[in-house]
Amino acid sequence: MVKYQNQNRLQKSLKVNNSKNFVKESVKVPIPEDSVMILILIIFILTIPVDIFSDKACDNFDKKGPYCLFSSKNDIKRVYAAKTKYDQSVKLFAKLADSIDIPSTCKPIMFYLFSRHGIRYPEKDDIIDMEEILPKLQSEIINGYNSDQSELCEQDYQTVKDWKLQMVPENDNHLTSSGVETTKKIAGLFYERYPSLFDPSEVEFKVGITSKVRTNETAHAFVDGLRDLRPDININEEDYVIRNHLQFHSICKKKINGKIPEPRQVKEITESKLFQKLRQRISKRMGLNRTIDDAELSVMYKSCCFEQAIYEKAPWCSLFTKKELRALETREDLKHYYRNGPGLYLNHQMPCPLIGDLYRAVIKGIAQPENKTTYLYFSHAGALARLWAALGLFDDLEINHNFCPDENRKWRTSLMLSFNVNFDVVLHRCTENNKSTNPSDYKLLTMINGFPVKIDHCDDSMCNASKFLKKYKKMAESCDLDQICHLP
Ligand SMILES: *[C@@H]1O[C@H](CO)[C@@H](O)[C@H](O)[C@H]1NC(C)=O
Ligand SMILES: *[C@@H]1O[C@H](CO)[C@@H](O)[C@H](O)[C@H]1NC(C)=O
Ligand SMILES: *[C@@H]1O[C@H](CO)[C@@H](O)[C@H](O)[C@H]1NC(C)=O
Ligand SMILES: *[C@@H]1O[C@H](CO)[C@@H](O)[C@H](O)[C@H]1NC(C)=O
Ligand SMILES: *[C@@H]1O[C@H](CO)[C@@H](O)[C@H](O)[C@H]1NC(C)=O
Repeated sequence: MVKYQNQNRLQKSLKVNNSKNFVKESVKVPIPEDSVMILILIIFILTIPVDIFSDKACDNFDKKGPYCLFSSKNDIKRVYAAKTKYDQSVKLFAKLADSIDIPSTCKPIMFYLFSRHGIRYPEKDDIIDMEEILPKLQSEIINGYNSDQSELCEQDYQTVKDWKLQMVPENDNHLTSSGVETTKKIAGLFYERYPSLFDPSEVEFKVGITSKVRTNETAHAFVDGLRDLRPDININEEDYVIRNHLQFHSICKKKINGKIPEPRQVKEITESKLFQKLRQRISKRMGLNRTIDDAELSVMYKSCCFEQAIYEKAPWCSLFTKKELRALETREDLKHYYRNGPGLYLNHQMPCPLIGDLYRAVIKGIAQPENKTTYLYFSHAGALARLWAALGLFDDLEINHNFCPDENRKWRTSLMLSFNVNFDVVLHRCTENNKSTNPSDYKLLTMINGFPVKIDHCDDSMCNASKFLKKYKKMAESCDLDQICHLP
């Protein structure tokens, strides 16, 4: 990975995370001394990413037209930040995951799922914005096309011309049918991997949601997915319980007295040359005689991301190239990093109610080997992003002075904050003595989306339970949101 160490980086204070969350082997080759320079040079040339120059100024958006999305709409590198669908996100994420061998003496005894809700509709205000702003832009695009100024190809133009808003304000934040389907599928995948941990004769289920309807609907979809495979799953309506440790971030926000302010980095990128060029380039493609403003760009982008996730057919995505989607992703990455992620100091401590719940679940799992519990918890991107901060994950967002991100950065919302993204812990007993209550006999397999990932303080993604309990004890036991939740 090429780092721009000497550049006037925008974020000098950002830490580069060199703890190997995602272990990649590097091969060391002995080299005779006199050939070192040449070799280094060759290695350097070979490892330079192809787009290094455009990387430094990621604002040279494609000049040539006409542009046609029609043929590349399923390209998995067309990313949609935190509105990326689970399947796509997992394909991109899988390349980063650890692989770990689980010793055959280790048997899974507890499953703990902490998941973001599935694909949802936009919130009411966003739907109203789409209703008001997009038809105007649509007729401007039609004018542009008719006066031969548009760069859209025929197929793309037709889909934009025929676009009609299919959502209504009442859809406000509800789960979509695509969200239900994906969630059921994920439930099935976990069931197939750990059938005994979903066996109602062996485990007790504990379900948790937040006060928001989308988590309730996701929990129901997940349980329905399990029931498709195990009709005797004994979870009843009264088991869908709102649990405060799943909405620690909303509780904290209330204590702060309202909203955490928009990070200045978001304002900076919005006013940057990069975004100015982006708006100009897109306006030209649309065949407009003017440049769209940020409100218009944002609503087009929202419509693109949501419709892509909900219907898989998103006419407004035709306006954006892959590279432009990456620039828009960068703004989302910044927003989440500095508001919900490691970029805001209090986020590292804020998930302590959740860490505390996991900590106690592990203690109980070890102390009562005959009473197995399966935890199914559903929450929000804002909680997952903060959990990543607390677990020391993905704390790496390098951006140069042109607002071009390092392509290898770990903080990439499209990969780790997608719909349905989940943190999973599977407690394993690693001894023949199935009555052992000694934490040293237990290990936690920590995963994201079912892929092993090493969390902070653990040696690898198969974390020694006694070490986990020792390292996370303080956060679990001295958790006081009144103390944590205030801004300077
Ligand atoms: C843009 O301006 C040109 C020249 O004034 C005009 O012919 C054309 O119709 C305009 N296009 C749109 C989309 O308004
Ligand atoms: C969750 O949804 C179910 C079914 O729609 C409903 O009966 C229940 O009241 C909801 N629970 C909460 C806590 O909102
Ligand atoms: C297991 O759960 C049952 C029922 O809740 C309880 O009576 C029993 O004491 C528990 N076992 C242990 C070892 O705590
Ligand atoms: C331990 O194993 C024995 C024999 O296989 C079994 O009867 C017993 O129920 C197991 N105990 C637990 C806590 O799993
Ligand atoms: C966990 O760590 C303890 C102390 O270092 C060690 O004795 C034990 O064997 C480890 N447990 C496992 C399952 O590896």
